[in-house]
Amino acid sequence: MRKADILLGLQWGDEGKGKMVDFLTPKYDIIARFQGGPNAGHTLEFEGQKYVLRSIPSGIFQGGKINLIGNGVVLDPVLFRKEAEELAQSGHQLHDCLYISKKAHLILPTHRLLDQANEAAKGKAKIGTTGKGIGPTYTDKISRNGLRVGDILDRFEEKYALAHQRHMEMIYSLNEAAVAKGGTPVSLDGLESLEQEWMQAIDYLRQFRLIDSEHFVNKALAQDQTILCEGAQGSLLDVDFGSYPFVTSSNTICAGACTGLGIAPSRIGEVYGIFKAYCTRVGSGPFPTELFDETGKKIRDIGHEYGAVTGRERRCGWIDLVALRYTIMLNGVTQLLMMKSDVLDTFPVIKACTAYRINGELTRDFPFSIDENVEPVYEELPGWQTDLTHCTKQEELPQAFINYVNFLERELNTPIKIISVGPDREATIWRE
Ligand code: GDP
Ligand code: IMO
Ligand code: MG
Repeated sequence: MRKADILLGLQWGDEGKGKMVDFLTPKYDIIARFQGGPNAGHTLEFEGQKYVLRSIPSGIFQGGKINLIGNGVVLDPVLFRKEAEELAQSGHQLHDCLYISKKAHLILPTHRLLDQANEAAKGKAKIGTTGKGIGPTYTDKISRNGLRVGDILDRFEEKYALAHQRHMEMIYSLNEAAVAKGGTPVSLDGLESLEQEWMQAIDYLRQFRLIDSEHFVNKALAQDQTILCEGAQGSLLDVDFGSYPFVTSSNTICAGACTGLGIAPSRIGEVYGIFKAYCTRVGSGPFPTELFDETGKKIRDIGHEYGAVTGRERRCGWIDLVALRYTIMLNGVTQLLMMKSDVLDTFPVIKACTAYRINGELTRDFPFSIDENVEPVYEELPGWQTDLTHCTKQEELPQAFINYVNFLERELNTPIKIISVGPDREATIWRE
């Protein structure tokens, strides 16, 4: 029986997953999202066009592939409709190539309000979520109160009314608490029209192939079809192993593909771990190698490090090999994909964090918490100071860059098989 391959982010997201899933798609029959929702923003560029995908898998542009939204995903029907309609307008019809799991959970308009209310209640300790209702939707799933895509096929209005009422009670009590603390309550203005739009989007969703995707996936593997599972977010945002509580609400690591698609662990094949030549993070939470100086600003400017979903500035810093070793371990990464190498082209010196000093002690193991006590220990390498964007094959890469890649491979004990030197699909180099 075939095994499914997985591509996932090893940092705090935005590693370039969309670009690489699209690049690898020709090798696969099925591309499947297994967790997350419209908090994701996956950017693809080819033939002078740029697309940002949120809930729809990144395999839709290569033709003839099945794209699947798995049970581990949370789906906002309104945002899904917008995304699908925009794609249809640009000539990409999805009705035949997109399947959706009946077990995927629905994001309700009130989930978004609850996301806002939860953030407001946290005050300064807020997570800095994308505001898409991700946390409250997964909370309902785990507390066994969620609504699933399959629910829209039978007596849905009744189920919706119950969920709505529950959420309103929660919002009222959160608002009362906010007011008591001198904070701002969440506004309910416009909720009715949002709900109408949402119900229309549910009708739109009914036009798609809503399937028992765990059977579909396993039959496909049994019939020797190839599957690439597309991660969203990054391993350091994983709800179990990430920088908790500053994480997302799903398992973003490899195991998330098992639960988020119904694939047994023994059926996992290649695990592509994707990382940037440096590191970024959006939202709050610890980030040991963050740069607050001109260098950080330079990385942000050259790398266009602004959120694809919220437009927020991404925090930038040097690559963190302690964190990467940890996420490679958690995911069982078999090969690495290194992205945005070109962003460091003009830097005379490149730094890489190889260990942490915590209360005077050196460690190479990722600790329980990466708070302000963690001091990164850097190794400095000479920059290549060459424009990599002109390189099309391995032989054209400058020696100083190859030295950097070899250094990373030694530190991470995993081969780097692909190097990306620009946002375009074509700006990608395979290494032998
Ligand atoms: P994802 O969420 O992991 O899919 O990543 P995003 O799309 O949010 O962010 C990655 C950004 O980097 C996008 O704007 C891509 O177009 C861009 N990108 C991807 N690979 C490269 C690269 O090798 N070089 C440069 N300069 N940009 C890249
Ligand atoms: P892609 O797939 C970067 C971050 C948010 C916030 C935290 C929790 O494009 O890599 P949530 O809305 O999920 O409850 O927010 O997670 N976050 C991401 N950061 N890229 C993403 O997705 C992200 N999805 C969520 O900024 O800190
Ligand atoms: Mg992104």
